Amino acid sequence: MKTITTIPELRAERAKLNGSVGFVPTMGYLHEGHLSLARRACEECASVVASIFVNPTQFAPSEDLASYPRDLARDSRLLEEVGVNLLWTPTPDEMYAEGYQTWVTVDEVTKVLEGASRPTHFRGVTTVVTKLFNAVQPQKAYFGQKDAQQAVVIRRMVQDLNFPIEVIVCPIVREPDGLALSSRNTYLNPDQRQAATVLSRSLNAARDAFLAGEHDAHKLRALITEIVNAEPMVTLEYISCAHPDTLQELHGAVERALLSMAARVGKTRLIDNIVVG
Ligand code: PAF
Repeated sequence: MKTITTIPELRAERAKLNGSVGFVPTMGYLHEGHLSLARRACEECASVVASIFVNPTQFAPSEDLASYPRDLARDSRLLEEVGVNLLWTPTPDEMYAEGYQTWVTVDEVTKVLEGASRPTHFRGVTTVVTKLFNAVQPQKAYFGQKDAQQAVVIRRMVQDLNFPIEVIVCPIVREPDGLALSSRNTYLNPDQRQAATVLSRSLNAARDAFLAGEHDAHKLRALITEIVNAEPMVTLEYISCAHPDTLQELHGAVERALLSMAARVGKTRLIDNIVVG
């Protein structure tokens, strides 16, 4: 695996790749979730490019940009083991040079859920993903269902801007006790780590209720809320039962829905979701 930093270097290496190119954009501190994307890309594409870039524009000033975990040596060893061909690690100056002022925004689907509490987050994501796509020019790009709204937003952007890229969304990878893998899990102390399992437990309970015939959106939200609120170390930020593509909140009986939530465990903000139906 070759590691490069600058856009000219990336373009030169990209030009040497023959056949289909898969792309796995990441912010590093890789876990099995990221590696599952890279493995799938390696299975499906002739060559795979991964990027590691902790994108400053998707963090609000109050968020954890400075403390976001980083371990480039370990990340690059893991990506090499999986079979990634090219690792691109741009610098913030390379991506956002002095005077930078161009943004890509996606409208309705970024205003709800994560976008409601993190108003500038998706503008940062869509802008950086556009820049990464423009440089790498992949045929396929791989994202995780863990960031369900991000996947919806990227699909919308790719369709709206006619990127010739297939967006592939891979399932959430979980710990044996159900906690969805996240680079931010590293912030949790042992008690918080244990308490955090309430996110997946509450979603599983809602899925079981749905399978047993409870299709009322309000009741599904209420069930999740009740289970999470019973865990004193966890504070619910939002709970949603929304249309999986439009992300509009659903009411009454639902046939298919994205159940998603954000919660704080101490200072750590975690998200999780499940699709029912
Ligand atoms: O999902 C992530 O890790 C990031 O949001 C992404 C897509 C790499 C953009 O910075």
